[in-house]
Amino acid sequence: MTDTQDKRVQVDISKCPLHEVDTFGPEFLQDPHPFYARLRAEAPVYRDPKNNVVYVSTYDLIRQVNTQPKLFSNRFAEQLRSGSTEQQDPDEVEIIKQGWIVADTMLTADPPQHTRYRKLAMKAFTYRRVLQMTAYVEELVESLIDELPESGRIEFKSEFANKLPMYVIADALGVPREHFDQFEEWSNAFLVQLGGVAAKEERLWAAGKIVEFQKYFVEVIERKRANPTEDVISDLVHADLSEEGDDRKMTYEELLSILQQLLVAGNETTAHTLTAGLYFLLTHPEQLDALSADPTLVKNFVEETLRFLSPTNNMWRVATADTEIGGEPIRKNDLILVRYGSGNRDEAKFADADRFDMLRTNAKEHLAFGGGIHTCLGSQLARKELQTAFPILLRRLKNIRLDPPDQALRFLPSILLRGVFALDVAFEKAPAPAERE
Ligand code: HEM
Repeated sequence: MTDTQDKRVQVDISKCPLHEVDTFGPEFLQDPHPFYARLRAEAPVYRDPKNNVVYVSTYDLIRQVNTQPKLFSNRFAEQLRSGSTEQQDPDEVEIIKQGWIVADTMLTADPPQHTRYRKLAMKAFTYRRVLQMTAYVEELVESLIDELPESGRIEFKSEFANKLPMYVIADALGVPREHFDQFEEWSNAFLVQLGGVAAKEERLWAAGKIVEFQKYFVEVIERKRANPTEDVISDLVHADLSEEGDDRKMTYEELLSILQQLLVAGNETTAHTLTAGLYFLLTHPEQLDALSADPTLVKNFVEETLRFLSPTNNMWRVATADTEIGGEPIRKNDLILVRYGSGNRDEAKFADADRFDMLRTNAKEHLAFGGGIHTCLGSQLARKELQTAFPILLRRLKNIRLDPPDQALRFLPSILLRGVFALDVAFEKAPAPAERE
């Protein structure tokens, strides 16, 4: 058995023909790694006859796709919409009509539009701004730990991991942390939409929540338009597109698109990395001891966690012309799934790739943040949160352990995101540092 995260669900896909594997099914999504291994060995570029999607699964070929944005476009939202009959569900359309049809801005745009929006959003998350956040993130981590119950038993994801990135993004955007529950629901609603496997009832719920999100943020946008404040939304509302060759401010459709990307991309991925990272540590006691003894190892530990989990496990591309990848013919308008989760377990790049090893020397070369022009805009921010959180958690949550001890991670049934449901842990809480009391 490989050292994969889930030990409860074992899908035997070792012998059956590749096309018999239900790659969008919840059971498959619990542990796709055995299938990824077969794809890399047997068909690194594989056209699934069930859905005509082309899977690209090796490290080198994924990089090849990511470095040719003209040939492999990110305008997949349009393609996914037009290819899906579910999107035309009249009940869903009725709900969507109450909100705004958002523009394709960063993730779902190509140059020159992509370049223009990304430049504006980057200003909000510059390397310098993130560097200045160290003390603030430390303080936030400490205060979240202060709030944990003295009983020393928690569900780590909901009581810590979801909150840290959500509070950071709420503060950066300039919206109150008290609306946390709503942000969380909205974030989940976007994931239902992106995951592409939800039942009708869930999709209708998600559509309603997304309209709620839009109405909330349109109000915020209006307030900040009238009274500028020191935050990302205010910066974006007042950003001048004339510098970018367009003499105007951004519309609701553009602003909402950027805000929804920051909300979803910023929260879910980081929360799952925090949760899974802790699980990897607790199931590798020698690495837990090493990191507790030497917190400077945290940088590489975080990179290895990102490689091993690959929170954004897959991402879409659309071919803009007839071409080839790795010698396999690709046709114009083909939908392509770049399988980051597979590239990150490619033995040709990472020796003993199914083993979690925080001392791995090339861990940082992972594909967890993508690559090329769409490389994660929040990678520095995510690293800051992750690198700050773990040493403080290990210092303050003494003898942290799985409780119950034999639990395995359960993964969300999403194609794009490799996310986890929950992690129950126990510990003895150490007091906050004296200077903060
Ligand atoms: C562990 C945390 C994170 C992971 C694993 C992650 C992963 C990724 C990946 C793989 C992409 C590239 C998608 C593609 O190939 O098209 C991406 C793009 C993006 N990420 Fe992240 N992300 C994380 C955290 C964040 C945070 C904290 C933010 C916001 C502050 C953020 C904002 C974005 C945005 C806006 C894009 C689109 C960039 C573009 O298209 O130019 N991400 N992320």
